Amino acid sequence: MDVQTSATRRVLVAKPRGYCAGVDRAVQAVERALEQYGAPIYVRKQIVHNTHVVKTLEKRGAVFVEETEEVPEGAIVVFSAHGVAPAVHEEAASRRLRTIDATCPLVTKVHNEAKRFAAKDYDILLIGHEGHEEVEGTAGEAPEHVQLVDGLDGVESVSVRDPEKVVWLSQTTLSVDETTETVARLRTRFPNLIDPPSDDICYATSNRQTAVKQIAAESDLVIVVGSANSSNSKRLVEVAKDYGAAASYLVDDASFVRDEWLEGVRTVGLTSGASVPEDLVQGVLAKLADHGFTDVEEVESVQESMRFALPHELRRDLRAV
Ligand code: F3S
Repeated sequence: MDVQTSATRRVLVAKPRGYCAGVDRAVQAVERALEQYGAPIYVRKQIVHNTHVVKTLEKRGAVFVEETEEVPEGAIVVFSAHGVAPAVHEEAASRRLRTIDATCPLVTKVHNEAKRFAAKDYDILLIGHEGHEEVEGTAGEAPEHVQLVDGLDGVESVSVRDPEKVVWLSQTTLSVDETTETVARLRTRFPNLIDPPSDDICYATSNRQTAVKQIAAESDLVIVVGSANSSNSKRLVEVAKDYGAAASYLVDDASFVRDEWLEGVRTVGLTSGASVPEDLVQGVLAKLADHGFTDVEEVESVQESMRFALPHELRRDLRAV
């Protein structure tokens, strides 16, 4: 370790970071279901996009499947925080599965917007990432009305039936800045484009981006703890670079932090995606301390107090005990 620089090596830790209310609720739903009904509890898709969370729940008896057809008839299945299309509910019902819907209420809000605008026969431009589970679930509410706009590149190929009846909605975990740009570009094509009734990008996504912006310019390197399939975590890496970090990397945990990244670095910024347990951030802090980054400062930009009740199917059974 470089002794000269060790005295000045510091870490700026963004706050808020890590678990959002929707992830907390979804993870708790699986944990409480395991306690209440016993293993196995089936979970369709990753309950949240974090490999450590999934492994931990697997050890406790959760069985992750891709589709409900893999779940034995009559068994309990939890739907992930990202939400599902109505067709998935129908399939589960036809196979007599007992479902616990852990869809984040803020994703459900977007589903409801899609249903409402589809009922009024609007064309819905859904800004989001192709193939993402949340987008598939939202689009599945009104497939004949929804067109996916995957960022700026997707704007030109959109075609609508009536430019006076067009609304945009979005995935909850996008870059706030990039989405603003995409909407502006859409509006040049459709000047009467209607905005969603309230922000679709959720409070947690936007707060974590605000927080990383605050530390990025002062950081030589920003480490984002999160899994490679986590949309909001990947956005934090991009935002950190856009706001002045010389480098930014996504890591699943401390073991992914490479020594060479830290060479010549004075200040490391650190944050985590909305599906990341805090112990993984603490693991990275411990590794950084081993490299002389012992001056740790938490930089809080927004206070959060959001909490969601457990899914009602589960609450009903918990109350009955
Ligand atoms: Fe919900 Fe936003 Fe978290 S949509 S699951 S609060 S990232």
